[in-house]
Amino acid sequence: MVKINDTNLLDVIGLNTRFFTEEGVIPAVNDVSFAIRKGEIFGLVGESGSGKTVTAHSIMGLVQPPGRVVSGKIVFEGTDLLTLSREQMEDVRGRRIGMVFQEPMTALNPVLRIGEQISEVLEIHTSLSGNAMKERTYELLTQVGFDEPRKRYIQYPHQLSGGQRQRVLMAMAIACNPSLIIADEPTTALDVATESQILGLIEGLIARLGMSMLFITHDLTIVRSMGQSVGLMYAGRMVERNTVGEFFAKPLHPYGQGLLESVYGFSGSGRLKAIPGSVPNLSELPDGCTFHPRCPHAMDICRGDEPVIKEVGKDQWVRCYLY
Ligand SMILES: Nc1ncnc2c1ncn2[C@@H]1O[C@H](COP(=O)(O)OP(=O)(O)O)[C@@H](O)[C@H]1O
Ligand code: SF4
Ligand SMILES: [Mg+2]
Repeated sequence: MVKINDTNLLDVIGLNTRFFTEEGVIPAVNDVSFAIRKGEIFGLVGESGSGKTVTAHSIMGLVQPPGRVVSGKIVFEGTDLLTLSREQMEDVRGRRIGMVFQEPMTALNPVLRIGEQISEVLEIHTSLSGNAMKERTYELLTQVGFDEPRKRYIQYPHQLSGGQRQRVLMAMAIACNPSLIIADEPTTALDVATESQILGLIEGLIARLGMSMLFITHDLTIVRSMGQSVGLMYAGRMVERNTVGEFFAKPLHPYGQGLLESVYGFSGSGRLKAIPGSVPNLSELPDGCTFHPRCPHAMDICRGDEPVIKEVGKDQWVRCYLY
């Protein structure tokens, strides 16, 4: 269980999200718990299909039918978001929680000028209007690194590069001074040089504005360079939560150990070793620990009941019978 305390901005507790499809119930998010402290970047990492986006959508109230959050608590600034009405949740989204997604083109309206789209966020969630709103929009464009905000204001999304569009989304995300930004693979569609610029921008903004961030990625190297805490997901479960320092020095979960070996090589030797097997299909999960068919340490007990996640040190949690 995650203890709720006032240094935490967000407490996700025992979250379960399912998709009720014609082929059966898909358990996309299972008993996921984690906390994000005020001012920290929490890296949520896992392979494609491990449940990262569904976790983010669950927090923001954006899970669409046939999907539904079936149980858990999402305590944000002292309120369980799962108890809010649709209107109350719409107010939280954009005003208290900003969002940045992987594909900036689909998140922007192609027929509206950049400045108008940023102003729209201010119009919905703040009391600003007229010139004050325009000035605030220029200020936001400057904050995300545009030299000539007045020129950018009147441009359309297709006139910008992918990196510039991601900056615009960042401006919209921070427009109302939210306390939390959720970024879901914000740089995955960008080239490496643009990616590092955008990551630098994000890191600087978060620190300067005193916001917290849930940073979702499949890329361990990004978490290592900018997160303080890390949550590792596998087959819809959180299998390890740790500080970034401890995780990259000595991961607790055999899956985390395998991942680090596949990305950095044995003890950083550069000799890479892939984890055998592949991520299981969520509709036909193995009994017991979902990682047991691929785990070099699997024991009889691992094929019985699924292990629960437990605290094994300060800020260190793992879902594994070895502990
Ligand atoms: N709309 C949907 N309908 C049915 N199943 C879904 C839907 N969206 C997601 N899922 C299930 O949830 C799993 C996790 O998805 P997702 O959170 O997008 O993974 P990630 O972001 O880690 O790549 C998918 O592999 C799929 O089985
Ligand atoms: S519970 Fe067992 S199978 Fe699962 S990761 Fe731990 S040792 Fe491996
Ligand atoms: Mg995703």
